[in-house]
Amino acid sequence: MTFSRRSFLGNAIQLAIIAIAGFGSASALAAKPVVMGFSQVGAESEWRTANTLSIKDAAKKDGINLKFADAQQKQENQVKAIRSFIAQKVDVIAFSPVVETGWDTVLREAKAAKIPVILTDRAVNVTDTSLYVTFIGSDFVEEGRRAGRWLLERAKKTPDRTLNIVELQGTVGSAPAIDRKNGFEQAIAGNAKLKIIRSQTGDFTRAKGKEVMEAFLKSQGKNINVVYAHNDDMAIGAIQAIEEAGMKPGTDIIIISIDGVKGAFEAMIAGKLNVTVECSPLLGPQLMQVARDVLAGKPVPKRITTEEGVFPAEVAAKEFPNRKY
Ligand code: AHR
Repeated sequence: MTFSRRSFLGNAIQLAIIAIAGFGSASALAAKPVVMGFSQVGAESEWRTANTLSIKDAAKKDGINLKFADAQQKQENQVKAIRSFIAQKVDVIAFSPVVETGWDTVLREAKAAKIPVILTDRAVNVTDTSLYVTFIGSDFVEEGRRAGRWLLERAKKTPDRTLNIVELQGTVGSAPAIDRKNGFEQAIAGNAKLKIIRSQTGDFTRAKGKEVMEAFLKSQGKNINVVYAHNDDMAIGAIQAIEEAGMKPGTDIIIISIDGVKGAFEAMIAGKLNVTVECSPLLGPQLMQVARDVLAGKPVPKRITTEEGVFPAEVAAKEFPNRKY
């Protein structure tokens, strides 16, 4: 058998091209980054800022292409963002729903487009739970109970005294506002000396927390013994209002809040906040892992609960250096 140098070279080049082309397409496939559309609630609190950072950082570290949309605390913006993620054919959608209800239609659209949906931080109230794959986040009812149990213990110091509580609720209709209210009420239900005398939303922001507390102080004055704030930011706003009214937060009025952000630890060290119940915003790494598992077809639990603690003022200085948010 004879072959010319030219045809040998030609065949070799052809084979190399085929091999490169084959290898090239396989590696291009393997390297194609996962695209995640994430709709965030907004930037209403120190907690939310830490949550956004955690998600962006984790996506970057994990090589996930994150399409991030800030809804500015409006459900309509979240619906728009989810529809845009569907139109862009992202691989997976994750979102932290600003409120619990009103998600059925858009989630059905995501399901019809075969895009898995992961809930983070806040839950939705839908009749068909197959509309989302899993929910990663805190047990907000338990957080409320923890806040209530702390107050029950504290009330033991003054068993004959009635303690009038004012409550600063989170965003109306949001899972943490509903659940933290329920959990707290459940915990204090057995003690007739603990009374919620006023309850109003401060929308999870410092400015509104302060505004509502000013109104409470105007109408109730020295009648207020306890502030129960659904997050640290509103508690910090309330602390400012109390100080401006010439009283000592943490001493004249007991302040209880939820989140465990650095600002709360600083307030506890300064003696202005009595306790914060932890709610971790560091959900990013877990979210990316779960997204990869879902896309790989691995089974994931329907509910993934974050583990958290309670930090009273007495441990604040010692714990502060360990805080990551
Ligand atoms: O959904 C979590 C809550 O939302 C946090 O407690 C609050 O600070 C945030 O804005």
